[in-house]
Amino acid sequence: MMTKEDYLKQYKNYQSMRDNVAKDPYRLHYHLMPPTGFLNDPNGLCQNHGTYHIYFQYTPFDCGWGTKLWGHYTTQDMITFKQEEPFLFPDQQADRDGVYSGSAFIENNTIHYFYTGNVKLMDRDDYDYIQNGREQNTIHMTSQDGYSLSKKEVVLTNHDYPADMSAHVRDPKIFQKGNDYYMVLGARSQNNKGCVLMYRSHDFIHFDYYNRIETPDKFGYMWECPDLFELDGQLILMVCPQGVEQIAYDYANVYQTGYYPIDFDFDNNTYQLGEFKELDRGFDIYAPQSFIDEKGRRIQLSWMGIPDASYHNQPTILHDWQHALTMPRVLSYQDNQIVQQPLEELKQLRKSPLTTSLQDFNQHCPTCICYEMKVEFDNYQEFNINIRDDVQFIYQNNVLTLSLGESGCGRTNRSVQLNEITDFTIYSDTSSIEIFVNGGKEVFTTRVYSQMLQQKVHINSHNNGQVNFYELSGYHIEK
Ligand code: FRU
Repeated sequence: MMTKEDYLKQYKNYQSMRDNVAKDPYRLHYHLMPPTGFLNDPNGLCQNHGTYHIYFQYTPFDCGWGTKLWGHYTTQDMITFKQEEPFLFPDQQADRDGVYSGSAFIENNTIHYFYTGNVKLMDRDDYDYIQNGREQNTIHMTSQDGYSLSKKEVVLTNHDYPADMSAHVRDPKIFQKGNDYYMVLGARSQNNKGCVLMYRSHDFIHFDYYNRIETPDKFGYMWECPDLFELDGQLILMVCPQGVEQIAYDYANVYQTGYYPIDFDFDNNTYQLGEFKELDRGFDIYAPQSFIDEKGRRIQLSWMGIPDASYHNQPTILHDWQHALTMPRVLSYQDNQIVQQPLEELKQLRKSPLTTSLQDFNQHCPTCICYEMKVEFDNYQEFNINIRDDVQFIYQNNVLTLSLGESGCGRTNRSVQLNEITDFTIYSDTSSIEIFVNGGKEVFTTRVYSQMLQQKVHINSHNNGQVNFYELSGYHIEK
């Protein structure tokens, strides 16, 4: 447990941690990172009366995996953020070992939150904590303003999940269809098959079991963080399967992040899953969550990190923090796939624009580390771009590869097969790189820890084309 009082008491003792974070040259300039300690999944994303609320899995006093709180940032414009006090604490029997991931759903001026209360039983020493020894309660509460919250009410316990479920069932998200609210939960069956459980409600309090979404053949042993939403007329199931074997360039990370187009017949309660596609080809992507903002945009943020990876973030751990959220991205569905675009608002960070032909670019050699660089090709040929000292972006034999050397801290190569490349845009921050290829049809997201925080972008290519380059300033974070 960590009640708010516990937190406030402990907070005083960690000034040195805050000072250490402040001194870190790898602090990100235009990405949300934990004030101190460890951040993972974005949670409860919503916009309420103009204010965006971005909550996240948060272990404030520990850079590793500890008891989770919900950290909290707010913003009106996605450029100036306020670091709020943590929103949710593990302070009940039903969530005592962590307020795990969850989401928000706004209706009639009330924000409904659903999250997983994690409980680790300690009364026996023979629990495996997979099939037994763990409770994952689905908990509901409401707020009018995104800051204060009502009493927590348990709406589902492990007894309400199907009998063949393991103890791992979590990460609720709501999808509305007509007058019905469907809750999706990520789950692992006793036979170690990943799936999504669906419950239906009319009042946010009573949830009846509705269906289970799964593939005919097993695709991983556990599915985490499901998100079900409509995008340009197509229903999408976003999910994070664990335990999928790598096939050629696909599924190269330890856990996957991707989506199925899904056709759901809600009258007959049947569905047809399309093909799974990875959301991102980089090293550091997990637990995406989306919401509709007041402009009607489907905005998604992800954890720019991943659990249990073979690579690490030791350079920031030395400075008492670890991980960050991706840039917010607007999703659309085009040519049977999701397209990701950085939020329009980020254009306000641009300064010192430089437009040049591809051939002339190398003469300019800008040296800032926080930049946006768009390359548009007139023809499709091979290229090799040095993004930083030992970070390369290579297109050869119809394979696009992001390759990191020592600055990757164990991150090496990630690739995707692509028959043509029309354009790409690189967003470089002090210790992260996000690359949007072909208008956002493929994305590579990675952390990187360059020795020198000055880059020299160098392009080797016989292509003709154009480059637009901007230095980027940072977010304003108010405390
Ligand atoms: C995904 C996840 C979720 C869980 C949360 C705990 O990264 O494991 O399934 O709710 O993180 O922090």
